[in-house]
Amino acid sequence: NQVDMRFDGQTVVVTGAGGGLGKAYATFFGSRGANVVVNDLGGSFKGEGKSSKAADVVVDEIKAAGGKAVANYDSVENGEAIIDTAIKAFGRIDVLINNAGILRDISFKNMKDEDWDLIMKVHVRGAYKCARAAWPHFRKQKYGRVINTASAAGLFGSFGQCNYSAAKLAQVGFTETLAKEGLKYNILCNVIAPIAASRMTQTVMPPDVLENLKPDWVVPLVAVLVHPSNTKETGSIFEVGGGHIAKLRWERAKGALLRADESLTPGAILTKWDGVIDFSQPSYPTGPANFMELLEEAQKLPANPPGEKTDFKGKVVLI
Ligand code: NAI
Repeated sequence: NQVDMRFDGQTVVVTGAGGGLGKAYATFFGSRGANVVVNDLGGSFKGEGKSSKAADVVVDEIKAAGGKAVANYDSVENGEAIIDTAIKAFGRIDVLINNAGILRDISFKNMKDEDWDLIMKVHVRGAYKCARAAWPHFRKQKYGRVINTASAAGLFGSFGQCNYSAAKLAQVGFTETLAKEGLKYNILCNVIAPIAASRMTQTVMPPDVLENLKPDWVVPLVAVLVHPSNTKETGSIFEVGGGHIAKLRWERAKGALLRADESLTPGAILTKWDGVIDFSQPSYPTGPANFMELLEEAQKLPANPPGEKTDFKGKVVLI
């Protein structure tokens, strides 16, 4: 009595679908009844050159397996053209998977503007342009599913990847806001930090590890999130790869409350530092602290005592 999770009649646009994770998404959705737009610029992993071959090979594969797919060779910076391909070929778009990406790894000391700008252009502007072009269709039909692609590098930082880290954490903020704006229109948006073997990771991970990190192990989570049966999960961050799937969220420390007046000195903060960094009773906020309420409470407090801290020689160094 088992029924496959299917996407019949839906149109799924996958950017950067010529290889790696994108190809795995595209072939999966193709095998589950979706019309697939296989976008790929076909350049190197550093963002050099272009070719129609990457997308064509995947389209041929989907069609050979009995699926429906069309190729698009535009850069994601040209989001309108990609969404246009979906509308012209299939008359609609239901799912957008912003997956295309490149790397320009270099230490911050040696970072050049072009390394920074190109990464921002492909990851941040690219995701924006594709989502922006899909948005009116989603709103009109009151249905849309978006996946944006972050990275552990964005969430935690990564040596030699400050450009990529910045662009990848940008996906989180982007997703969180799209989720809020889309909710009313049944547009659900989530962001994943995947880990998978691809040309991007083949030089940084040993082959035996890569063998167990198939892009195919990332696909099922994405399928769950973009399927019509998902009616709730939105604005969420997921870590996914090698069989591990976990949602991530923000955590707020206990914090400290000080009266907001001239007595709020650096030293006064230091007297309450333990609370500022106390995660023993955390909260998990989905929005900013209630500043109006906190301010009111803070103003009921007496003036903050001046802080003192002594250095190794017993001298008071901070007030
Ligand atoms: P990949 O290099 O195999 O695939 C990326 C695809 O995007 C390539 O086919 C490339 O031609 C295409 N592409 C690049 N720039 C493009 C542009 N301007 N327009 C259209 N297509 C373009 O790499 P992989 O690993 O499959 O990466 C997919 C996504 O997952 C990327 O966003 C990457 O940053 C992210 N990611 C991957 C991780 C991994 O472990 N593989 C880890 C964290 C994030």
